[in-house]
Amino acid sequence: MNADLGAPGTNVDAADRAPFSDLRRALCDLLIGRETLIDRLLVALLVGGHVLIEGAPGLAKTRAVKLFAQGVDGVFSRIQATPDLLPSDLTGTNVFRQETGDFDFLPGPLFANVVLVDEVNRAPPKVQSALLEAMGEGQITVGKTTRRLADPFLVAATQNPIEHEGTYPLPEAQLDRFLFFVELPMPDAADERLVLDLALGEAAEPPGAEALSAVGPDQLAAAKNQVRCVHVSPAVRDYIVRLTAATRGEGAGGAAAAAIEHPASPRASIGLATAGQAMAWLDGRDHVVPSDIRDLAPDILSGRVGLTYRARADGETPRAIVGTILEATPVI
Ligand SMILES: Nc1ncnc2c1ncn2[C@@H]1O[C@H](COP(=O)(O)OP(=O)(O)OP(=O)(O)O)[C@@H](O)[C@H]1O
Ligand SMILES: [Mg+2]
Repeated sequence: MNADLGAPGTNVDAADRAPFSDLRRALCDLLIGRETLIDRLLVALLVGGHVLIEGAPGLAKTRAVKLFAQGVDGVFSRIQATPDLLPSDLTGTNVFRQETGDFDFLPGPLFANVVLVDEVNRAPPKVQSALLEAMGEGQITVGKTTRRLADPFLVAATQNPIEHEGTYPLPEAQLDRFLFFVELPMPDAADERLVLDLALGEAAEPPGAEALSAVGPDQLAAAKNQVRCVHVSPAVRDYIVRLTAATRGEGAGGAAAAAIEHPASPRASIGLATAGQAMAWLDGRDHVVPSDIRDLAPDILSGRVGLTYRARADGETPRAIVGTILEATPVI
C-alpha cells in the first residue's frame, strides 16, 4: 500500500479506548448481528453526529438505541412522533407560575443526551424542522430565549420503510443533517436463532443495569480529543473528495450520477473524514485507511443523494447507485 495512506498521527491510548471497546463488545452481545449499527452510533457519539435508522418493525431499532443510551452516562429521552405533534412537545414551553407571577421554562425531551425519535416521518414538517434545527445548531429558541442543548446531544431517529401512508418523508435537505442513514436488513436464520435464545433468556432472567458500564463525560472528552488527532493522509482526503464529486458526475461517477438529481454536499466529505477518524480510533489505529472510508460511504452518502424521478421509476435506490460509484472510483 502507498506509504502516504498510512502515515502515523498520534498514538491511540489504549486506556482511553478501553471503555469504548468494552461498550462496543457488550452491545454486540445484546444486539445480535447489529455490529454496523453499533459502530455507527459510537462514531456519531465521538464526532457529534446523528443517526437515522430505517428498518421494518421488530428489528430491534428501539432496543438498540435504548441500550446504547444506557451505555452513555447521561439523560435519555424518547419521542414517539405522531401527526399531531407540536414543536413545543419537543422543545418545551414557558409555563406561567401563579405564585411568582413569572414564566418558567419547562424543558422538553430534546434536552437530553441521547434522544430517540421513533417514526420521525410521522412528525409534521414544523416538528421535523424544529428537530433538525436542534440537530444542526445544538440549540433551540423558545419565545425570545435561545437555549443550548446538552453535550453530548445525539438524535437517533427511526423510520419504517413499509408504511408511507400519512407520513411526511424527510426532505433531502434535512436528511443531510444526519451523519448516517443506516438500513437494517432482516436477520439470517442463524442470527434469528440467537435472537430467540437471547429473548427467552432475558424473559427468564431480566438483565440488570450492570450489564452495560456507561462511558462517562470525561472519558468521552478524552476520546474526542484523540479522535480529532487521527491522521487523514492527503491520499485518503483525495479519495473522499473523488467519491463525493462522483455523485455530481465527476470522475468515475459519470454513468451512475445520471440517476442523481441532488448530489452529496461538502458536509458528506467532512462526514466521511471525521467518521473515518472515529472508526480508525475505535479499531485502535492512529490513521484512517481507505477501507474505513469505503465501509462508511454507503451509510454516509446514500441518505444524501436524491435520485431523478426516472431512476426511481426504474427501481433504482440511492444505496445501489452509491455502490456503483464505490465500485467505479479508484482508491488511489
Ligand atoms: N438483532 C437482535 N438482537 C437482539 N434482540 C432482537 C434483535 N432483533 C429483534 N430482537 C428482539 O425483538 C424485539 C423487538 O425489538 P424492538 O421493539 O426494538 O423493535 P423495533 O425495530 O423498534 O420495532 P418497531 O418498528 O415496531 O418499533 C426486542 O425486544 C428484541 O427482543
Ligand atoms: Mg420501535
